Amino acid sequence: MRNFKTIIVTGGAGFIGSNFIRHIFEKSGYAGNVVNLDKLTYAGNLMSVGDIEKQYGGKRYFFERADICDFDSVTAVLKKYDADCVVHFAAESHVDRSILGPAEFVRTNLNGTFTMLEAVRSMWKDRKDVLFHHISTDEVFGSLGDQGYFFEDTPYDPRSPYSASKAGSDHLVMAYYHTYGLPVTLSNCSNNYGPYHFPEKLIPLMILNLFEEKPLPVYGDGMNVRDWLFVADHASAIYRIITDGNIGDKYNVGGENERPNIEVVNLLCEVAADKMGRPKDYYKKLITYVKDRPGHDRRYAINCDKLKKELGWKQSVTFDQGLALTVEWYMNNKEWVESVRSGEYRKWIDTNYDAR
Ligand code: NAD
Ligand code: TYD
Repeated sequence: MRNFKTIIVTGGAGFIGSNFIRHIFEKSGYAGNVVNLDKLTYAGNLMSVGDIEKQYGGKRYFFERADICDFDSVTAVLKKYDADCVVHFAAESHVDRSILGPAEFVRTNLNGTFTMLEAVRSMWKDRKDVLFHHISTDEVFGSLGDQGYFFEDTPYDPRSPYSASKAGSDHLVMAYYHTYGLPVTLSNCSNNYGPYHFPEKLIPLMILNLFEEKPLPVYGDGMNVRDWLFVADHASAIYRIITDGNIGDKYNVGGENERPNIEVVNLLCEVAADKMGRPKDYYKKLITYVKDRPGHDRRYAINCDKLKKELGWKQSVTFDQGLALTVEWYMNNKEWVESVRSGEYRKWIDTNYDAR
């Protein structure tokens, strides 16, 4: 089992990164330091790690505002903390935004990952007691028909600017392993859901619209299928991989929980109705079919047997449990929700950090 002194988490103020940092401190037994390196884009919110800052800030948890595309800044952070592990989440993550503005996706996901790789290569040289773990998506494998699954060796076939930029970053990571011997691991996961999810993505968007009885926009015929993974389960998988995964290996992480979008939205309506004391079908009248996303991938489904067999990982919640926990979280965390929806969290960042 590998044990690190200082883990740099890029994108630790985002959805999955913040949940991963919480997992490290509260569940994993890890005793070292964590540095959250984040540029704080629209998706980065330090409120998502407010509890961690309060308890561990300045002792075992540190925040550094930096852009992963800026070699000097990244190198300075790596040196300052003498980091021996990087867990790389930072990215532009929303497919719809990548359709409207692909340039930022190429810059952050491709050039940013390249810059991170160059920075660790120049810092770590030939060290073998270090690790660069790259977080990627199952979307790099393309779109499935009614049958079949993505395996670790499924050929890449990305179809959106987002998935193409992630595919390119995955190839760079593997190239650094093969060419320079950089110790790397890589994981491709399915759609995450859970607390601290930015409300532009399907599940949090639907939850917040439900609370306000606004329309629930379902793209196309609602029959596109995604595999849903509870974010805390993803966090535990990543920790298993960085401590025990084979160097140079890829691992698929999935919820083994495929659902057409319309089924997810119907379930959310029922969970919300139950929590709000409404009749079961009360919110379903809000479902509104809207114009489809261009190039909308039809189905994703992931086989994660390798992670389960080799590293003994498994999911901890069913989809019903995960959805109930998620709806409850959004009901009980109005301050976070309001600050994100109103943009107040941005003002806080601009007051406390230099505008970039
Ligand atoms: P997110 O959009 O919630 O957070 C991204 C974080 O990265 C933010 O805190 C943002 O400020 C930071 N960031 C963006 N550009 C940066 C830059 N140039 N320099 C430094 N920081 C920067 O994303 P997420 O949903 O938490 O996704 C995290 C990772 O997981 C991404 O690599 C994404 O591709 C991957 N992934 C996500 C999902 C999902 O369902 N959310 C599924 C598969 C893979
Ligand atoms: P999303 O959360 O954007 O994740 P991804 O595109 O990475 O899978 O979308 C999940 C699915 O939900 C996807 O098939 C698109 C669909 N969707 C809607 O139907 N309505 C919406 O408002 C959003 C944001 C997504």
